[in-house]
Amino acid sequence: MPRFDDSRPEMSLEEFRLLRDHVYSHCGILVHEDMKFVMERRLWPRLEALGLPDFGAYHRYLRYDAQRHAELEAAVEALTTHETYFFREPSQLKAFCDELLPVLEKRNSRLKRLRLWSAGCSSGEEAYTLAMLLKDSRRFDDWDVEVYGTDISRRVLSMARRAEYGASALRATSADLLERHFQPAGNNRVRVRDEVRSWVSFGHHNLLDETGSQLVPRMDVVFCRNVMIYFDQAARRRVLRIVRDRLVPGGYLLLGHSENLLNLGADFELVHLQGDLVYRRPELPGLTTTGGEGR
Ligand SMILES: C[S@@+](CC[C@H](N)C(=O)[O-])C[C@H]1O[C@@H](n2cnc3c(N)ncnc32)[C@H](O)[C@@H]1O
Repeated sequence: MPRFDDSRPEMSLEEFRLLRDHVYSHCGILVHEDMKFVMERRLWPRLEALGLPDFGAYHRYLRYDAQRHAELEAAVEALTTHETYFFREPSQLKAFCDELLPVLEKRNSRLKRLRLWSAGCSSGEEAYTLAMLLKDSRRFDDWDVEVYGTDISRRVLSMARRAEYGASALRATSADLLERHFQPAGNNRVRVRDEVRSWVSFGHHNLLDETGSQLVPRMDVVFCRNVMIYFDQAARRRVLRIVRDRLVPGGYLLLGHSENLLNLGADFELVHLQGDLVYRRPELPGLTTTGGEGR
C-alpha cells in the first residue's frame, strides 16, 4: 500500500502491541488491532514533537525517559474521546430528577448534605448539568451540595474550570435553561453562572488508580457515563470495584445508555425506576435484594 507521506514512520505490529499494552495498563483504554492505523495517525504528532525516528523509539521514551509521565498523559490525550454536551441522555436525567432526587432528599434530610460524582467528566458539561438539575429541583437550597467532576485529561479539565461553551455543547439545552443558568461570554459563547459553578469542582483522577481513589469522598450518586465503553472487561471490573467503594451504602451508579453491568459480576443491585434502570450499592455488604442482573 503506497504511503502518501513517506517521511512518516510506519508502526509495526509489534510496536503497536507494545504501545497498546502500555496505554491499556495505565488507563484501561483498549485499542483494538484493527484500529492500529488510528493509533498511528494520532501518535505521529507526538513523534514529530519529540523528534523521534520511529514508534520503537517512542515506546522506549514512554518507558524510560525522565519525561515519561508527562508523555504518557500526552499519548492518552491523543487517544481518548472527549465527546460530551449539556443535558445528554435526557430520559435518564428525567428519571434522576423525578425518582432519585426525592429518595436522596429523604435519605439525607438529617445531614442536609449531598455528594455527586461525574466520573470521566470531560470538559464539565455533565457535572454542570447535574448542578443545574439540583438547583432547579429547589430541594437542596440550604444544603451542603458538591458535584465533583474528574477526568484523566488535564486539557479537558481546564476547559471545565473555564466553564465557557459554544453551540455544540449546548445542542440539547433549551432556551429557558440557557437563560437561567448561563450568561453571555462574547464570541457566541456563554458562561455557566456562578451560583451553579459554586456547587461544582474539578480534579484530575485516573479511574483505575486505586490509591488515588481513596482521596475521593464517599458519594451519594456516581455518573460514569460513556467512559468504560473504551475499556475491556478486566478494566471495567477494576473501575466498578473502585466506584462501588466510593459510594455510600445505598448510593446509586448511573451508566451511559449503551452500557450495563452484564457479565461483570459487580456487586450492585439493579433498580427499576419507571423511567430508567440504575444500579445501587447494597445497603449492607453482600446483601443484594434485586439480584443485580444486567439490563
Ligand atoms: C466520551 S467522554 C464522556 C463524558 C461524559 N461522561 C458524558 O457522558 O458526556 C469520556 C471521558 O472519559 C475520560 N477517561 C477515559 N479513561 C479514563 C480513565 N482511566 N480515568 C478517568 N477518565 C477517563 C476521557 O478523558 C473522556 O473525557
